[in-house]
Amino acid sequence: MAKRPEWLDSAVFYEIYPQSFKDTDGDGIGNINGITEKLPYIKELGCTAIWMNPCFDSPFGDAGYDVSDYCKVAPRYGTNDDLVHLFDEAHRLGMHVLLDLVPGHTSWEHPWFKESMKAERNEYTDRYVWTDSIWERPEGYGSLRGISERDGSCAVNFFTHQPALNYGWYKPSRPWQQAMDSEGATATREAMKDVMRFWLSRGCDGFRVDMAGSLVKNDEDGKGTIALWQNVRAFLDEEFPEAAMVSEWGEPRQSLAGGFHMDFLLHFGESHYNDLFRCGKPFFGGKGDASAFVAKYIDSYERSQRRGLICIPSGNHDMDRLARHIKGDARKLAFAFLLSMPGAPYIYYGDEIGMNYVEGLRSVEGGYGRTGSRSPMQWDSSANAGFSSAPAEKLYIPIDPDPARPTAKAQMKDADSLRSEVKKLIGVRQAHKALQSLGEIEFVCDGAPGKPLAYIRSSGDERILVIVNPTDNTADITVNGTPGETVYSFGGAPVISGNSVRINGGSAAFVKI
Ligand code: NOJ
Repeated sequence: MAKRPEWLDSAVFYEIYPQSFKDTDGDGIGNINGITEKLPYIKELGCTAIWMNPCFDSPFGDAGYDVSDYCKVAPRYGTNDDLVHLFDEAHRLGMHVLLDLVPGHTSWEHPWFKESMKAERNEYTDRYVWTDSIWERPEGYGSLRGISERDGSCAVNFFTHQPALNYGWYKPSRPWQQAMDSEGATATREAMKDVMRFWLSRGCDGFRVDMAGSLVKNDEDGKGTIALWQNVRAFLDEEFPEAAMVSEWGEPRQSLAGGFHMDFLLHFGESHYNDLFRCGKPFFGGKGDASAFVAKYIDSYERSQRRGLICIPSGNHDMDRLARHIKGDARKLAFAFLLSMPGAPYIYYGDEIGMNYVEGLRSVEGGYGRTGSRSPMQWDSSANAGFSSAPAEKLYIPIDPDPARPTAKAQMKDADSLRSEVKKLIGVRQAHKALQSLGEIEFVCDGAPGKPLAYIRSSGDERILVIVNPTDNTADITVNGTPGETVYSFGGAPVISGNSVRINGGSAAFVKI
């Protein structure tokens, strides 16, 4: 098993979209020093680590997921020294920082790609996935064609301006398809290790890895990509054994085998994540159905040898804000679930105060429908919600215009606010190992319509029954064991009789058994 940093086991993450968090130089866009300034706010909430979206040089056609220099902080965010200062400050506060590694593609403005487009063979000719004729496209992938002097089409991974880096094909079947151990594919992998080395040696604690499962092409069951990441993990074990690796993969049985410590539950594919938070009738809205989610979760859990390392985010920069679909106190129940599940929880900036999806915005930097979830953090009731001193029209994305928009400052003063509940829940998680990342989970009730979600978390001798009941119905959960101390409740205390626990509709309880 991969070496792992101990801090990861109890980590609660806070995701920061740097553009929108805090602007300290008045240009209307967030920056690194703004994040550093707000670390105490994140620590006060109880989070112990942050994941920052890409902050590197980029033409920002996809908000920085189109990198043009992996080793340089984009000037609009500050300097490399500012980022190193952020690492130092975080460490001083006992916190850790994951950067966002985008190994699958670059911007078409990256110097590697410019060299790779040249007809003349050079060091970067094989850095990307090219066919050997403009008339042939890489089947199964989008492609860039007709912009190079070189005769060929280049595969793209996401938007058209994001050419795919070459890590080889699992089973090459065309002359231009390179093997995983070819010189070109090996050079790409080593170049990515250099990027990791660059930041890890400057104090970064690890990476969230973008589209980690899609590097080797035509690799249906992930075997090639798993082998690639095992190779990277061996390098980390050797040079940076404390580096934490969290994948955007959505298949823990593959990503954990590749040496990742944790994987994300994705909001697309088969996870049924959206059944809980974002659909016509989300489970946490009270009228939905969590059973398909639970069935898929158990399947993933069993297939990854009961390693509960699937990180469930409250949201992220790619999906609708939680608050768009779940209203009022039901959000507290959603957090009771998020903060009592295995794997490290991720809180998307502003979700802790119930920030809303801002409707009707024009797309910014390739955000499209995602733009409404990327609006500036609402710190207080001063101009621009305390985000920036720039004129409102110069802000990266407009502030939520709702006069009743929530603010961090007001919620910190209000013991009944969402933020206060989230803070309380993080504290309960941190006080009980069973509730943390590595504790086991066994479901007792699968949240079928009208029913709560209930599960037992355990670690050593500690066993905690978690019941989250967003429905209108009172629920009785019977367990094998003796319910005792209630370590958390919301919406009324649970009533214990014998081996059964009764809780109201619209409530949650964590009870030792
Ligand atoms: C996933 C990232 O989260 C998303 O924001 C980005 O657009 C794509 N990967 C492409 O890198």
